[in-house]
Amino acid sequence: MSDIFTNLTYQALNQGKSYFAFAHKQLSSQLKNLVYPPAEQKIKPVPPELLLKVQTRLNQLLETDWKDAEGGVYPQSLLFDHPWSDFLRYYPLVWLDLPQVWERSTKKRYQEFSADIETDGYPSYYLQNFHHQTDGYLSDMSANLYDLQVEILFGGAADAMRRRILAPLKGGLKIFADVSPRQIRILDVACGTGRTLKMIRAALPQSSLFGCDLSPAYLRKANELLSQIPGELPQLMQANAEELPYLDNYFHGVTCVFMFHELPATARQRVIEAAFRVTKPGGIFIICDSIQKSDSKDLMPMMENFQELFHEPYYRHYITDDLGERLQKAGFENIETQVHFVSKYLIAHKPA
Ligand SMILES: C[S@@+](CC[C@H](N)C(=O)[O-])C[C@H]1O[C@@H](n2cnc3c(N)ncnc32)[C@H](O)[C@@H]1O
Repeated sequence: MSDIFTNLTYQALNQGKSYFAFAHKQLSSQLKNLVYPPAEQKIKPVPPELLLKVQTRLNQLLETDWKDAEGGVYPQSLLFDHPWSDFLRYYPLVWLDLPQVWERSTKKRYQEFSADIETDGYPSYYLQNFHHQTDGYLSDMSANLYDLQVEILFGGAADAMRRRILAPLKGGLKIFADVSPRQIRILDVACGTGRTLKMIRAALPQSSLFGCDLSPAYLRKANELLSQIPGELPQLMQANAEELPYLDNYFHGVTCVFMFHELPATARQRVIEAAFRVTKPGGIFIICDSIQKSDSKDLMPMMENFQELFHEPYYRHYITDDLGERLQKAGFENIETQVHFVSKYLIAHKPA
């Protein structure tokens, strides 16, 4: 009975988040159109039957999320783990920031950073206002708004999509059953604000966690989040995912969530090769990112609108890229693909 109640609460919470995100997107795009009337309409209309399909996929994602929690892949409490105080605190800032975002997007200014931001030493492809974000990934304000913005973008389903890495990760680690849980090392590449690491910590409480990202501001935010959890603090490091600063064959599991679509093709290959190098023989590498054209041709209008509405310079190539082939080229084998809602997952193994 209590499970039914928890499930109903979970479903209701997610419907609420999805309505809120929809209302926010409608209102903000109408306001933008008032302030900056669109010169030509490049956005593809999304027919109601497609919206219904998207809703069905969202429902399936939530169902899987619930089942994985019920089946013990992770504690049910994770389903209700949201940074509410941050959301309340930073939601007004999302609105206050919007006029700058609109101006940047209308004037096609894609590489704009505040004067106090140090941009030396980053790869040029990274110095972008992805999603027209103020300061790209390089300020504390960007890090503070990020989780809220991603929740709105994905209709409240961002964490449920991130959690889909947990079942294959736990499954893949079974090959190391003779290793003590404390000796299991997991790296989250491009850990951002640390949400995926927090989930891995809940699913694998004893493992040693590591995270890296290029953004000092996002790492600071991740450190703030992760240091609230009792137990060993994940080790965070500023690093380019193309040149992971870890020993060869060091990690039993490596994950990477929502980064690949923001990389040019050459960098995508280099990250996969770096992940291969640091993964132990027999270890697992999991990529979670946007669906691609080959997964869901029917969702193409939405993928096209995404690259039109958000500044995502590498997305057009990403959606046609053969990531499976890239993983194989690096040496991974036994590559499985899954699709949940609007994300795809590549689960690859380093030969034992
Ligand atoms: C869309 S965010 C995803 C963050 C996080 N994984 C999540 O689930 O929200 C992309 C992240 O990739 C990081 N990033 C982009 N290119 C990178 C690179 N070459 N090396 C390391 N991190 C990178 C950014 O700083 C940002 O934190």
